[in-house]
Amino acid sequence: VGNHVLHLVLADSELEQVPREIASHRVIQQLARRRGRRPTELLLNSSLHFPAMRKLADADRRGRPDIVHVCLLLALDAPLNREGLLRTYVHTRHNKLITVDPSVHLPRTFYRFEGLMEHLFLTGAAPPENPLLRIEESSLAALLKRLKPKKVVTFSERGELKPLGGVFGGLSKEDDVCAIVGGFPHGDFLSDVGELSDELVSIDPEPLHASTVLSRAIYTYENTFGVHELRMRRST
Ligand SMILES: C[S@@+](CC[C@H](N)C(=O)[O-])C[C@H]1O[C@@H](n2cnc3c(N)ncnc32)[C@H](O)[C@@H]1O
Repeated sequence: VGNHVLHLVLADSELEQVPREIASHRVIQQLARRRGRRPTELLLNSSLHFPAMRKLADADRRGRPDIVHVCLLLALDAPLNREGLLRTYVHTRHNKLITVDPSVHLPRTFYRFEGLMEHLFLTGAAPPENPLLRIEESSLAALLKRLKPKKVVTFSERGELKPLGGVFGGLSKEDDVCAIVGGFPHGDFLSDVGELSDELVSIDPEPLHASTVLSRAIYTYENTFGVHELRMRRST
């Protein structure tokens, strides 16, 4: 299998604090009071804040922490991650970057995940006693510059339609790869993925959910590099 890793980036994710411009809206004020937070300390959540979001630019796609939650649960539980060969990052529309430690156990209930993310945005690291999540300012371009992967593959419906099986082929065991999946519900990447990627790949003629694409990308990578066989051999 080698010791190369898959860097998985959920890019332009719709994870952010409530923007100041809508913080005084009645709905937001009410919810903030109930949670014991300042309005701008809440995570923007389209299913709760919809009435307040109408005047916000890109309102139809913003406020989707649920997408990040589902994607992180899937990635962290994957055999590739258990094997220590996956690195997971969440990049947001405001160029915040969350680095996720492979060993973190995230809350499975959304309510508790929301609380954890609110805390992370406030303090920069969570949980407080042993931070396994860290947030910093970073564009997608800056992250890739730092990681220096051998190949950057972005999954996009606008890419070339091809079977997923070949995407990670042709790489040697020493080469790190970066796979980018959009962490948003509609529309296109905000970051210039065309410029930043070696390949834009479409894996289905229809748009799929980010979580579906992410789990298939991880599974295909595991298959390409024999991660399943390795784990089974080791256990027998
Ligand atoms: C829900 S999609 C983004 C929105 C999509 N344009 C739409 O309107 O439904 C989330 C992400 O999943 C990935 N994705 C979705 N469908 C895909 C496909 N057919 N091929 C490759 N990637 C796809 C892309 O990374 C995309 O940014």
